[in-house]
Amino acid sequence: MKVLIVGSGGREHAIAWRVSQSPLVEKIFCAPGNGGTEKENKCENIKIEKINELAEFAKKEEIKLTIVGPEAPLVDGIVDAFKENNLKIFGPSKKAAALEGSKIVAKDFMKKYGIKSAEYAVFYEREKALTYIEHCSYPTVIKADGLAAGKGVIICQNKKEAEEAINSFMLQDIFNGAGLKIVIEEFLEGVEASILSITDGNTIIPFISSKDHKQIFDGDKGPNTGGMGVIAPNPYCSEEVLNSFEKDILEPTLKGIKEEKMDYVGTIFFGLMITKKGVYLLEYNVRMGDPETQAVLSLMESDYAEIMLKALDNTLEECEIKWKQGSACCVTAVSEGYPGKYKKGLKITDMDKVENKIFIAGAQIKEEKLLTSGGRVLSVVSVGDSLEEAREKAYRDIEKVSFQGMYYRKDIGKIKSI
Ligand code: AMP
Ligand code: GLY
Repeated sequence: MKVLIVGSGGREHAIAWRVSQSPLVEKIFCAPGNGGTEKENKCENIKIEKINELAEFAKKEEIKLTIVGPEAPLVDGIVDAFKENNLKIFGPSKKAAALEGSKIVAKDFMKKYGIKSAEYAVFYEREKALTYIEHCSYPTVIKADGLAAGKGVIICQNKKEAEEAINSFMLQDIFNGAGLKIVIEEFLEGVEASILSITDGNTIIPFISSKDHKQIFDGDKGPNTGGMGVIAPNPYCSEEVLNSFEKDILEPTLKGIKEEKMDYVGTIFFGLMITKKGVYLLEYNVRMGDPETQAVLSLMESDYAEIMLKALDNTLEECEIKWKQGSACCVTAVSEGYPGKYKKGLKITDMDKVENKIFIAGAQIKEEKLLTSGGRVLSVVSVGDSLEEAREKAYRDIEKVSFQGMYYRKDIGKIKSI
């Protein structure tokens, strides 16, 4: 069959690589893809981004499976548009995608279905939010309701910081509308875990757990990024943690998906906080994580394309996903200055010296050369019998690659006790 993958990041390169290994798959179109998908087996990049044009293309090429990488087209309703054209697409409906697209929808859903999560209050008016922060406890967490490119959550240590956050969201409108409504939430302290999962609306099967490293600097210092590296499985996800996740989060989520008739076939990604008071759900994402996907799919032994087709046929219940033993470690190299301003168009060299898999995120091929085009440029992913072995292999390799100003964290997968 022919497959279409929507998106252009490292996540989409990893999905394309994994799906290309399926004997069911003959050809993969990546819209628009990147310098990594351009060279991947069975793949071809195409320059189409608009939803209606993608649907036209899928019809013309008789695409049998479309996979959507990022959240924005899902929230915009790409799945509904494809279904209207009788096209098979793996992803949640627009209604279900609001679990990521609106923090208010997500928090109200968590409350309605008794999902273990932080206490919260919703504000539509700035004055009421300013009154609330006079008396709330600190730190407190302020979240823009809508999509804000990963920048919509601010942890405020005191009233002054909370006031600044509220004003920038609701008065200066820095997110072009996405921050005019806000959630103010109880601060939870602990370690985070990412559980990517697949659902057909009747069953949710969690993938192997993973741990992102969100801050730019070693020791979890500095501003948040899209993710600087991942290990899988997550060493903090003990059996006890996974059991409470299933009981307090996964099961009531599935009940809610069914009762709300969400029409949810796709990825559901649980962002967890493991605290001394138990396991909490911080957020839902309705797509795979980046760079979680790069590590998690490197451990997947089953045929990912086949699993997605099973979800589309509503037969996930009979499906067992197999995982490799051992650990994966993904280290992400970024451009100097990221997550602030950075240069583009820098030549990446010595990729051929790397023994493990490289996933390209922000880089494109121009005149036979691979040039940087984004903040997060590439990731090296290695698999080892132990986490230590996986780390060593990934770090040995990433040192070989270079571009001007290349930076990566040196402590991905170094585990502290809670
Ligand atoms: P979210 O988009 O809701 O996952 O928030 C982004 C990041 O902000 C999370 O990955 C956490 O690091 C942090 N965060 C969100 N909510 C909370 C909370 N209630 N307590 C502590 N940290 C949080
Ligand atoms: N790496 C976190 C995310 O994809 O949301």
